[in-house]
Amino acid sequence: MKVCAVHTKVSGSTRKISDLLIEELKKNNAEISIQEYTVAGFKPCAGCFSCFANGEKTCPHASEVGPIAVAIEEADVVILDSPCYTMGMAGAMQSFLEHLGYRFFAHRPHPAMAHKIGVAISTCGGLGAGKVTKDLKRHFFYWGAAKYYRLPFTVFASSWPEVKEKTKAKIVKKIQKTALSISEKSGKVNRPVHLRMMMRVCGAMVKKGNGFPLDAAWWTSQNP
Ligand SMILES: Cc1cc2nc3c(=O)[nH]c(=O)nc-3n(C[C@H](O)[C@H](O)[C@H](O)COP(=O)(O)O)c2cc1C
Repeated sequence: MKVCAVHTKVSGSTRKISDLLIEELKKNNAEISIQEYTVAGFKPCAGCFSCFANGEKTCPHASEVGPIAVAIEEADVVILDSPCYTMGMAGAMQSFLEHLGYRFFAHRPHPAMAHKIGVAISTCGGLGAGKVTKDLKRHFFYWGAAKYYRLPFTVFASSWPEVKEKTKAKIVKKIQKTALSISEKSGKVNRPVHLRMMMRVCGAMVKKGNGFPLDAAWWTSQNP
C-alpha cells in the first residue's frame, strides 16, 4: 500500500491523529510506503491561470507543488489534514490545494484517481471540524477519487496534551476502525456511479471546446 499524507503542520492535535492513523495502517500492512509533506507556509495560488492554459509545470510554484502532486498520483491512499481555523480549513492547506485546481475533473483529472482512497482529518476546539473535513472531501471528489473517509474530532483543547484521556481513547478507537476499513478496501475501490456520470458529462463538454484547449486534449488522450 502506498500512502501520501499532506499535513498542515508538523505538530498539534490534528497532526497527532494523522500520525496515529499512519501507525495503524503500518500495523495492518506489511508492505507499506509512506510519503509525507507539510504545507505550513505554502504560498497562495498566484491566480495566473498558467496551470490551466500552459500546463502545471509553468506554475510559479511548480517546484513546491510538483513533487506532492506526483506523490498523490502514485498513492493508493491520500491523507489531508487540517485543524479548524475560524470555521474553515487552515490557510496553508487551502493555499496548497488551490494549486491542484488543474486536477479538478472540469480540467485534467488524473486517471489514477479512479481507484484512490482519500482521508480527510480535522480537529476543532468546539465547532467546525465537520465542515473542514467536508471541504477537504470536496477536493477528493473533484479530483475524481473513488472513495473518501471523513474524520472530524472535537477535542475541546488547544493542544494534544490538553485533550482528555476519554476523548483520546474514543479517537484511537475510531482511527483503528478506519485503518482496518482502509486496509481492506485499498486497491479495490471504484468511483461511484454518480461521480462517473458527472465526469462523463463534464468530459464531453470539455472535449467540445468548453474550456482550455489543454483540457480538451487531455480528455481526448487520457480518457480519465
Ligand atoms: C486561529 C484559530 C482559529 C480557530 N478557530 C476555531 C473555530 O472556528 N472553531 C473551533 O471549534 N476551534 C477553533 N480553533 C481551535 C482549534 O481548532 C483546535 O484547538 C484544534 O484542535 C487545533 O488543532 P492543532 O493542534 O492541530 O493546531 C481555532 C484555533 C486557532 C489558533
